[in-house]
Amino acid sequence: MPIHEVRASGPEYLALVTRLLQRARLAGPDVGVWEAADLQWWWRKPRESDAVDQIFWLDDEGPVAGVVLSDWARAWGCDPIVVPRRSAVPLVTVWARAVEAIDALKLGKVEVLARDDDAELVELLLGSGFAAADDEPSGITQMTVEDRPDPIALPDGFLLVDRGRESSEPHPMRRRNGEDVERRLRQCSLYDPALDLAVEADDGAVAGYALFWFDPVTNVGLVEPMRVEDAYQRRGLARSLLTAGLDRLAQRGARRLKVGFATEAARRLYVGAGFRVTSLTTTYRRLSPGNVHP
Ligand SMILES: CC(C)(COP(=O)(O)OP(=O)(O)OC[C@H]1O[C@@H](n2cnc3c(N)ncnc32)[C@H](O)[C@@H]1OP(=O)(O)O)[C@@H](O)C(=O)NCCC(=O)NCCS
Repeated sequence: MPIHEVRASGPEYLALVTRLLQRARLAGPDVGVWEAADLQWWWRKPRESDAVDQIFWLDDEGPVAGVVLSDWARAWGCDPIVVPRRSAVPLVTVWARAVEAIDALKLGKVEVLARDDDAELVELLLGSGFAAADDEPSGITQMTVEDRPDPIALPDGFLLVDRGRESSEPHPMRRRNGEDVERRLRQCSLYDPALDLAVEADDGAVAGYALFWFDPVTNVGLVEPMRVEDAYQRRGLARSLLTAGLDRLAQRGARRLKVGFATEAARRLYVGAGFRVTSLTTTYRRLSPGNVHP
């Protein structure tokens, strides 16, 4: 099948990367790192990378490979993505274009999250001046929907709310994610306000929140993000949010449930709810002093 290359930014990029990651997931449950919903979550706030012309390779049915550069403020993220088998574009080609794009944009600190069992990508990273960061262990956890726990009620004094109801209340995530968060989330094809959950304390304060994403193409249900504010931790709020959200994902038709972790607390929370660690991941960083962007 003939392959051609396109460049896309803004909403056109979001549509293409969604389709690309859905095709990658349909190729197998353990392909790559990300769900389409992960990259839709990244869309929640404006970033310098919104203007970057991201590279995609397309066959007659849509995208088969791509390079995504994301401005994380602390560094730039780079994600080479390929649909295995269907792709006539090998990872080595995608990675070479990624490095070209990083150099052309003069990006300084660049990070790539790789699965520890992705020997090909790890070798390419080490050969391009990237080194493994000494971060807390991170990884991916999954379970089938039949294994999900029953919903666990919140402790007294807390209320579960979602964005599905009519509300003029500001979005609970705006403090960390900016005033635009609701508008940007509503631009995402996989965003469902009834799966956008928060826990309110008696005085109306937001104690925590979690967003659940159902992808009807892949039937995967993703949890991203999950947060309980410091003052409310270790009272079982995350466990209640998680079990309530997983149940809603099951009602939507999710077959497989997935969540990534980057801290030991999160790993314990997810494993305690029945998730199984299916891959460990490592962040690789490259520092290029003297470049223009941070
Ligand atoms: C991870 C986080 C969501 C947990 O919220 P929480 O409401 O305190 O969690 P819960 O009280 O429901 O705890 C459920 C289980 O998670 C695990 N857990 C939670 N916090 C933990 C901690 N600090 N250290 C170790 N295990 C922890 C425990 O297994 C706990 O069960 P237990 O209390 O019976 O031992 C919260 O610490 C947080 O928001 N952290 C910052 C953001 C973050 O890391 N989010 C996850 C991103 S993937």
